[in-house]
Amino acid sequence: MQVLETVTDIRAAISTERKAGKSVAFVPTMGNLHEGHLQLVRLARQHCDVVVVSIFVNPLQFGLNEDWEQYPRTFEPDCKKLEAEQTDFLFYPSETEMYPNGQATQTKVEVAVMADILCGASRPGHFLGVTTVVSKLFNMVLPDVAIFGIKDYQQLAIIRRMSEDMAFPIEIIAAPIARDEDGLALSSRNAYLTEAERPTANALYKTLCHARQAILDGNRDYSSVEKEARQQLENAGMRPDYFSVIEQKTLDPATPADTEIAILGAVFLGNTRLIDNVTLTL
Ligand code: PAF
Repeated sequence: MQVLETVTDIRAAISTERKAGKSVAFVPTMGNLHEGHLQLVRLARQHCDVVVVSIFVNPLQFGLNEDWEQYPRTFEPDCKKLEAEQTDFLFYPSETEMYPNGQATQTKVEVAVMADILCGASRPGHFLGVTTVVSKLFNMVLPDVAIFGIKDYQQLAIIRRMSEDMAFPIEIIAAPIARDEDGLALSSRNAYLTEAERPTANALYKTLCHARQAILDGNRDYSSVEKEARQQLENAGMRPDYFSVIEQKTLDPATPADTEIAILGAVFLGNTRLIDNVTLTL
């Protein structure tokens, strides 16, 4: 695996691969890689000849009171894991490489409306930071396909919309959620859970599954499904941020006429913010 730190170097490397007729898959990450990320890398390998992973803890997508400083940075073990997956290139830009003119005046890529609801409502500016960095990464790496996890459901929907609206010639591929044995979705932020919190952390997934079953059983009163779920989360010791039954593509609240449904939940367990989701087709 080659580790490349500059835009010039990654472009040169990818250009050589392209001239040799190779297709390129890209997995953007913020590092601290777990099994969920490695599944994205394996999916990338299934789609293309060359696999590029990026690690960049993007300051632009963290709010002022969020965990940017605390976010685990584990470069050496990450490299070992990527080597073991036969990753071809690791793009590891510095902050000045990513934002050469500074963050404050960086040109932004904004997806309207979808970015301000759900996680966007409690994390103002978060998705603006995500779409800005992902569009920059797309322009730096110029891949044929890019892989994103379904766990960050809203992020995936927003990136799909951004790619469509900005006509990026990149196929966006969704990777299933990797879970621990008890159902907890894998996330770098699970590392913040205390030993006492960890056994109850799967209550979010359990509640999502329960809500999905209620809808499959015929309940179309989605606000009552949401209300019951919030109560279940509180009973499990969690502080719900939101729990919403939505239409898969638009992220609008689902109506009984919708057939492609997603249920998204975000909670605080102690100081840790967890998100998860399930989907269903009616
Ligand atoms: O999902 C993530 O890890 C990040 O939001 C991403 C897509 C790498 C952009 O910084």
